[in-house]
Amino acid sequence: MTDARLAALAARLPNLRLLTDPADLEHYGRDWTRRWTPAPLAIALPADVAELQAVVRWANEQQVAIVPSGGRTGLSGGAVAANGELVLSLERMNRVLGFDGVDRTLTVQAGMTLHAVHEAAKEQGLLYPVDFAARGSCSIGGNIATNAGGIRVIRYGNTREWIAGLTVVAGNGELLQLNRGLIKNSSGYDLRQLLIGSEGTLGVVVEATLRLTDPPPPSQVMLLALPTMDALMEVFALFRSRLTLQAFEFFTDAALRHVLAHGAQRAIDGEHPYYVVTEFDSSESAQDAALAAFESGVDHGWISDGVIAQSDAQAAALWRLREGITESLAPHRPYKNDISLRISALPAFLREIQALLGREYPHFDVVWFGHIGDGNLHINVLRPDDLSDSDFIAQCEHVTKLLAETLQRHGGSISAEHGIGLVKRAYLGSTRSEAEIALMRGVRQVFDPNGLLNPGKLFV
Ligand code: MLT
Ligand code: ZN
Repeated sequence: MTDARLAALAARLPNLRLLTDPADLEHYGRDWTRRWTPAPLAIALPADVAELQAVVRWANEQQVAIVPSGGRTGLSGGAVAANGELVLSLERMNRVLGFDGVDRTLTVQAGMTLHAVHEAAKEQGLLYPVDFAARGSCSIGGNIATNAGGIRVIRYGNTREWIAGLTVVAGNGELLQLNRGLIKNSSGYDLRQLLIGSEGTLGVVVEATLRLTDPPPPSQVMLLALPTMDALMEVFALFRSRLTLQAFEFFTDAALRHVLAHGAQRAIDGEHPYYVVTEFDSSESAQDAALAAFESGVDHGWISDGVIAQSDAQAAALWRLREGITESLAPHRPYKNDISLRISALPAFLREIQALLGREYPHFDVVWFGHIGDGNLHINVLRPDDLSDSDFIAQCEHVTKLLAETLQRHGGSISAEHGIGLVKRAYLGSTRSEAEIALMRGVRQVFDPNGLLNPGKLFV
């Protein structure tokens, strides 16, 4: 070990798993953005909380920056280590610590994958309801650090709603037990909620007590084809008024093209500009209501075609059309916008933004999809073959600036669920006031006085 700081760490913690192999530095130094060249100092994989605290204390003594690391499926660069940081991977801290059937809570280490959390809840006959396509690789600690949303927010809310308690290592190595599983706790600032969505800048989440709920009732999955963006909002209002929705997701024909090329099966014939995958509680009356809503949508000219899944396999095939989009676009290394608006503000915003993107990206493949029922749009721009990476990013940044200004006018947010990370820090001011950002910086200073936790993320 040539680096004196690392030699000191290895001497102090002889059992600590430390990786410095170039392939490991590359693997652990990047997330799904693939925009930055990984260059961490080393990777530490502590086995327990005490070891992790000791690493954070060492980092303070040696003034080494730390990048907390979960599954690195993030899309904003929040887990990127490109400046000689120590990557602190929670990978080995991935166990269930306890289940309480009275409280209906599951306590887990932060390195567990979301999928493993789902399975552990299911074993107890209960549900952890936050869900999205990266479930097999993302970690619950990363979900908490970004307040992850996903495909069931319309029914269950964001990660924030499901965290009953957090154990966190602050920037100075101190251990904090936040909220300790309480349902009611009116005893001052809720530091747990401050940590959720803080993107690793206030502390390292090491354990979480998760709320569980009843398993969902039987449901049905429907795919709809729509002629216009305006129709999308009309159909959403129609379906929401008549059914209990579990999900209402949209994508465009461009997204469908990519996902079909990636192996998914077409479910509706013909060319249609917009599609919706919706899932709703099923009962005999709900099936009648769904049919009536569908017919009403057709009569109004808002729905062109539709199909309802007749089996679990068909439901999975319909979901694949939506959930497979990210993976199908990944080889193109898309520039991603992840924006949020009040649902009531969407129609006017969408008209404006369609015109803006049509004008600014006339020759680019622009792929729209997302959680329209939550007011959350993912706008992915694909690099044309004849454009260099740097020219492409520069053009996308120019358009994102215009997008951010438009969002600001409509009262939206530059990040709905992916976080700010490195990708969107230049646009934080379009969503947060100067006074808010000053307070956020002040909070960071209190939790992490030496500024060693994920520096450069969230703030410019
Ligand atoms: C999704 O909704 O599929 C995820 O947020 C991932 C993405 O935006 O690519
Ligand atoms: Zn999403």
